[in-house]
Amino acid sequence: MLRSVLSSAARSPSWRRLAENTAVVRPVVNRFVAGAGVEDAIRVCRELAGDRLVSLDHLGEDTLEREQATRTVDAYRTVLRRLGDEGLAARAEVSVKLSALGRALPVDGEKIALENTRLICEAAAAVGTMVTVDMEDHTATDSTLSVVRALRADFPDTGTVLQAYLRRTEADCADFAGPGSRIRLCKGAYDEPGSVAFRRKSEVDASYVRCLRVLMQGKGYPMVATHDSRLIDLAGELAGRTGADFEYQMLYGIRPAVQEQLAAQGRKMRVYVPYGTEWYPYFVRRLAERPANVAFFLRALMNR
Ligand code: FDA
Repeated sequence: MLRSVLSSAARSPSWRRLAENTAVVRPVVNRFVAGAGVEDAIRVCRELAGDRLVSLDHLGEDTLEREQATRTVDAYRTVLRRLGDEGLAARAEVSVKLSALGRALPVDGEKIALENTRLICEAAAAVGTMVTVDMEDHTATDSTLSVVRALRADFPDTGTVLQAYLRRTEADCADFAGPGSRIRLCKGAYDEPGSVAFRRKSEVDASYVRCLRVLMQGKGYPMVATHDSRLIDLAGELAGRTGADFEYQMLYGIRPAVQEQLAAQGRKMRVYVPYGTEWYPYFVRRLAERPANVAFFLRALMNR
């Protein structure tokens, strides 16, 4: 219910304008977003890199202009160059959304997104790091996986995301559990229909466990993207049994104490760090994950 309401809010231009132009919202946003510019991203990366790994996300999605997609490529090239200059490339990769790179363009969208992502992969390889392709709503799953397969022919370390809430994902995990594959397993953040996705939390969690088992028994590199303590413990146990090399991943601003704790235990812990001015849809998805965030946000709006 909350997710459905917020999913509409995420697409609403008037809610977006209200949130973007209300100063008291900024501190709430700043909890989840590193800042507007590349130097904010580099600063946060430097702060985290002592004990954690990082994945930088230049915020933006659903681009309908080719020039905007090209600007996104340029933004990634810039941040990758800065990671190289700062000696941070061994600790930080980048995450990209195909809808920010042109997939939604009316003509040849998928082809343009593939070409644009290829340019980012080249820039990443040039400084010694790699790219993970985020997963958006279920209408884009096949297209994303096909782009990732094409990229992996030239850049075998290109990773992607699979969402445990989709009914298809256990089978996708089996397909992507081969040598060299890097799969970030998350629960899923979009408002999906019951025809394609599990809707109850207990079902999503059970699916996550099944998917995790497939990945941990496979030959790839599982990236366990969750803040759920039960799943974090289970991942550790499964890896202990199978000997799988893996890493934990969490979002910037969420359960930082647990991130520190896992890193202190010697676990590989990567933080997904978004930055940029297009924070609104990302921010609304973070609100939808936790009712307490919505209450906090609404209080900030009412007190402005
Ligand atoms: P769950 O939602 O059950 O939360 C477990 C606990 O974590 C909560 O009890 C709470 O303590 C804490 N928590 C979770 N979310 C919080 C929030 N927003 N604010 C405060 N506390 C919170 N999704 C997607 O569809 N496509 C993608 O490409 C990605 N990429 C991605 C990368 C990485 C590194 C992560 C960690 C997550 C994603 N996601 C994603 C988001 C993911 O699908 C999911 O929505 C969130 O991770 C929340 O799910 P949890 O697994 O944390 O469990």
